[in-house]
Amino acid sequence: MSKDQILNVFYKKKGDYISLEDIATEIDISKTEISDEIQSLIEEGYPIDTLKSGYRLNKTNIVLPYEIRSNLQTNYMGKKIYFFKEVDSTNLVAKKLANEGAAEGTIVIAGKQRRGKGSRGKKWISPSGGVWMTIILRPDVEPNKAPQLTLVTGVAVAETLIQELGLDVEIKWPNDILIDNKKVSGILTEVKTNIIGVEYVLVGIGIDLNIDIPPELRDTATSLQAELEREIRGAELIQKFLQNFEDNYNEFKADNFPYILNKWRRLSGTVGKYVELRRKGGVIRGEAIGISKNGRLVLEMDNGNLRKVISGECTHINRKEKK
Ligand code: BTN
Repeated sequence: MSKDQILNVFYKKKGDYISLEDIATEIDISKTEISDEIQSLIEEGYPIDTLKSGYRLNKTNIVLPYEIRSNLQTNYMGKKIYFFKEVDSTNLVAKKLANEGAAEGTIVIAGKQRRGKGSRGKKWISPSGGVWMTIILRPDVEPNKAPQLTLVTGVAVAETLIQELGLDVEIKWPNDILIDNKKVSGILTEVKTNIIGVEYVLVGIGIDLNIDIPPELRDTATSLQAELEREIRGAELIQKFLQNFEDNYNEFKADNFPYILNKWRRLSGTVGKYVELRRKGGVIRGEAIGISKNGRLVLEMDNGNLRKVISGECTHINRKEKK
């Protein structure tokens, strides 16, 4: 792809200006085509400066698709990447692409989101410097199995943060990745069904990478940069995540959800805790004693009854607060 070849030349030049002639000698493409492609890269959001003497790709805290593609070892996850400098929500863009027939494994990634969607209708703050990404999936499974993909994704995010950055993370059921009880990543799974079954699933992943958490949220949220006190390279993290995600998703498709659940249990910060669950029908409290084989949280209520819950907003409660 000529865009990739051009970006390759920019990367080799490490931020120096390079003329059209020099680009054309490095790759076998006409100067007109190169200049058209550069224009299109600028429109896609690549921070390219233009001078009479040539072009330069600036450093940016946005993770660019070129960097993700290079050395990506997956078979199909992230083989097609749609990148936008700014969108309302990557889930919304992915929905449109999925409705138009985008293939399984296609990802949509944005520098920032104007109206990032959180779970349960909440807003998801998505400034530049984070990972805001949606994966399009087309699993041949019954619709009631689709929510399990939130757990599959949580395992892949947690494994990636542990393997790549050595972080001590845990998963709060069903979809939050926590470091020291502070949220660093969230997952929003949306399912479209038709009369045959699942048409597609959109898995939206937000990771607070190199962002400043607003002071009012610092008790409950954190970023990887804040935890590790350095800037984190997003492209490598995403590559590793896509690999982990593909591996876990293949197990899910092979009907090996128990394999995912075993890993989830080990990563879970919820099992063993007293929790409060906010659901459409009201609030319930109980001890989270496990996760069922289809991904429901099993609660032991104060009256000793067991209850299996498929969705809800979960808060870990200190034993001291338990009345
Ligand atoms: C949560 O509330 O924990 C879920 C947050 C999900 C945020 C991600 S960011 C990428 C994708 N696009 C969205 O609008 N939301 C998800």
